Amino acid sequence: MIGSRSVAAIGHGAMPMSIEGRPDEARSIATIHAALDAGVTLIDTADSYHLLAGEVGHNERLIARALETYEGDKDDVLVATKGGHLRPGDGSWTQDGSASHLIEAAEASRAALGVEAIDLYQFHRPDPRVKFADSVGALVHLLDTGVIRMAGLSNVSVDQIEEAQEITDGRIVSVQNQFSPAFRSSLAELRACAELGIAFLPYSPLGGIGNAGDLGKTNAAFQRIADDRGVSPQQVALAWELSLAPVVIPIPGASRPETIRDSAAAAELHLTEEELASLGE
Ligand SMILES: NC(=O)c1ccc[n+]([C@@H]2O[C@H](COP(=O)([O-])OP(=O)(O)OC[C@H]3O[C@@H](n4cnc5c(N)ncnc54)[C@H](OP(=O)(O)O)[C@@H]3O)[C@@H](O)[C@H]2O)c1
Repeated sequence: MIGSRSVAAIGHGAMPMSIEGRPDEARSIATIHAALDAGVTLIDTADSYHLLAGEVGHNERLIARALETYEGDKDDVLVATKGGHLRPGDGSWTQDGSASHLIEAAEASRAALGVEAIDLYQFHRPDPRVKFADSVGALVHLLDTGVIRMAGLSNVSVDQIEEAQEITDGRIVSVQNQFSPAFRSSLAELRACAELGIAFLPYSPLGGIGNAGDLGKTNAAFQRIADDRGVSPQQVALAWELSLAPVVIPIPGASRPETIRDSAAAAELHLTEEELASLGE
């Protein structure tokens, strides 16, 4: 569940289809369609998933086109976007967490997605130059004015989750932090979300774009189970993340139909207590 919306166990992170190394549009659309065919109902994006300075919203527009051309059932699809990061076009990621920027950015995301209201809008990353309460205040404004239906946070600490819940009167429905077999330091936020009933979306759940292919090589315990079960170590990683709490919804990135199909199948992989014990937490 994300707030009042029910979504499938595994989501689709759309970032690899718009940043460095992105594929052509036909392959990207085929990937999103493959995700939907596999039962994925959560697609994660951000206005900053683009390459060049003039391309803000590249990934959001791509998702809108993929949904437009999808012939299957898309009623339950939830598109989650984010604001607060910027890409000036030189490869860097900069930040603007000011309320005025977030309000303007959310309006632009709404237009890029071609929706009346954004299903889930996530504040991408606390900006050290802006009071966190001011950024969260923008989420309250966007909720109250109907630009967004639900609000979430990303790259936050337990203290920030609690502060945001106070400011929004308990209206934060999701937290997106980095979490994978090799990066477990967001376990405290995962646990806090489980206690508060907030969806926890592990990002880079396979270790990130450059490392995901080597997951089995760098995490031997995951490869062992994958060999025993005849599945990919990536599927084992996602199944392990799902086992940590019912609020966990991993969002593996994919730019090829076969990878998102494989990842989506992790929802059906149930690891035994013994297997889970060998993977730790
Ligand atoms: N909030 C934030 O600050 C933040 C930061 C980073 C990412 N994110 C979000 O999290 C999503 C996922 O993170 P990520 O893309 O950085 O890293 P990731 O999900 O750990 O890895 C993505 C890579 O994994 C490969 N892959 C996916 N499923 C696979 C499988 N079953 N077997 C083998 N390889 C597989 C994909 O390959 P192909 O490309 O070949 O399909 C892709 O390049 C992003 O798309 C984005 O939506 C958020």
